[in-house]
Amino acid sequence: MNHFELKDGALACEDVPLARIAEAVGTPVYVYSAATFRRHFTVFRDALAAYPQLGSPLIAYAVKANPNINVLRVLAELGAGADTVSEGEVRRALAAGVPPERIVFSGVGKTDAEIAFALKTGVAEINVESEPELIRIAEIAAQVGARPAIAIRVNPDVAAGGHAKIATGKADNKFGVSFKEAARLYANASNSAHLNPVGVACHIGSQITDLAPMRAAFTKMRGLVELLRAEGLSVERLDLGGGLGVPYFNHPEPASPADYAAMLAETLGGLDVQLAFEPGRVIAANAGVLLSSVVHTHQRPDGGKRFLVLDAAMNDLIRPAMYDAFHDIRPVKPTTAQTVAHDVVGPVCETGDTFTRDRPLPPMQPGDLVAFMSAGAYGASMSSEYNSRPLVPEVLVDGDRFAVIRPRPTYDDMLARETQGPWQA
Ligand code: LLP
Repeated sequence: MNHFELKDGALACEDVPLARIAEAVGTPVYVYSAATFRRHFTVFRDALAAYPQLGSPLIAYAVKANPNINVLRVLAELGAGADTVSEGEVRRALAAGVPPERIVFSGVGKTDAEIAFALKTGVAEINVESEPELIRIAEIAAQVGARPAIAIRVNPDVAAGGHAKIATGKADNKFGVSFKEAARLYANASNSAHLNPVGVACHIGSQITDLAPMRAAFTKMRGLVELLRAEGLSVERLDLGGGLGVPYFNHPEPASPADYAAMLAETLGGLDVQLAFEPGRVIAANAGVLLSSVVHTHQRPDGGKRFLVLDAAMNDLIRPAMYDAFHDIRPVKPTTAQTVAHDVVGPVCETGDTFTRDRPLPPMQPGDLVAFMSAGAYGASMSSEYNSRPLVPEVLVDGDRFAVIRPRPTYDDMLARETQGPWQA
C-alpha cells in the first residue's frame, strides 16, 4: 500500500489531504508519512531476516538522509540504530532515544572534539577512515582512558554506478583505506591498549540500482575478513554501509531489499560475523514529499518555453540542481486536461534553480498545489536559507493526525540569529 495516494480526487498523505496541510502550514513544506517510514524499515529488516545465515544484523539508519528527531523516533521505536557522521547527528540519535550501542560513527574528517564526544557516548563502533585518524583516536582514547570499538573503513575500489558526486567506493574518492592498508591498520589496532578493533566497513555509494558492484565489493570484504582471521585476528562485525537505490519513477526498477538480501546470503552466508547496514534513502526517500504552490506560469511568445514558477526553490530541494536528479512532480488535484511541456522552476536567482525541463504537466493556476515525490531523503536535510528564504518546515503525518515537526522560522527569527560586532553600533 502506498501512503501517498489519491483520496476523494486529491493527493493525501495517509488519511490527511495534502491541501489541508498546505492550508495549515503554508508552502513550501515537507510532508512525511510515519507509516511509510515504519513500512520501509520493516521491509528492509524482514528481507534480511528471511535468511537466518545472515544472523541478527544491526540496521543503523543513515541519519543524514532525514535527520529530524521525530523521524528518528519513529525508527528508534522499531529498534533501528543510527549511522552518524558528525557530533550533531550523534546528538540527534541520542535525543531520539537510539541507544549508544546502536550508533555507528563514520566520516573522513572527525575532529578531536567529535572523537572525544563519541568516546564519552560509548558508541557501538567508530568507523576509521585513515591512518592519521586511527592514531588520533588512539591518542584521545589514551587521554580519557577509553578503549573504543573501531572498524576500519575500506575503499573496495569498485565503481558503483550512479552519479559521480555520490559514488564513494573508488580509490580516488576520499573515503576509506585500501585492502592492504586495512590489514596493516587492523593488526596495529589489535596491538594497541587503547583500541578495540571489532570489524571492517565499506560503503560504495548511493542510489545503487544494480547489485553487481555491491556483490563485487562484498565478496572482497569477505576475503578481507577471512584474511584477517587467518592472521589470528578476531573480526566480529562487517559493516556494509547503505546505498540501496529507490524508484524515482524514471529509473529502471531498482533492486529491492529482497534482491539485496538474497545477494548477501550468497556472498556472505556462513561468514559468522554480525552484519551492520546503514540504509538511508531506501527508508526515507519515498516516505516524504515536498509540497509547493504554483506562483504563476509564464510563456515565451510564439509557442516558446512555458515556465511553471513554484514557491519552492533549489534551497528547499537541491537534488535536481546538484545531481540532475529526477523527482516526479504531481498536481495535488489531478485533472484530465491535456498536458503541456513545462520547465518547472523556483524563484531563486540562478538558472540552476530549475527542477526539470519540458515536463508534461496539465495547465496550472496560481495557488494550485504540486508534490515533489520521493523527497523524504536528502530533501530537508540539504535545505538552506539561500536567497534569505526561511528554512522549509517539516510535517509528520501518522494516520489521521499531523504535526509540524520543524516550524518555518519567521523573518524575525531569521534576522535575530545574526549578531553585530560591538564596534558596529
Ligand atoms: N553510510 C555512509 C557511510 C554514507 O556515506 C551514506 C551516504 C550512507 C550510509 C547512506 O546511503 P544511502 O543508503 O542513503 O544511499 N545527497 C545525496 C546522497 C549522498 C549520500 C551520502 N552518503 C543525494 O541526494 O542523492
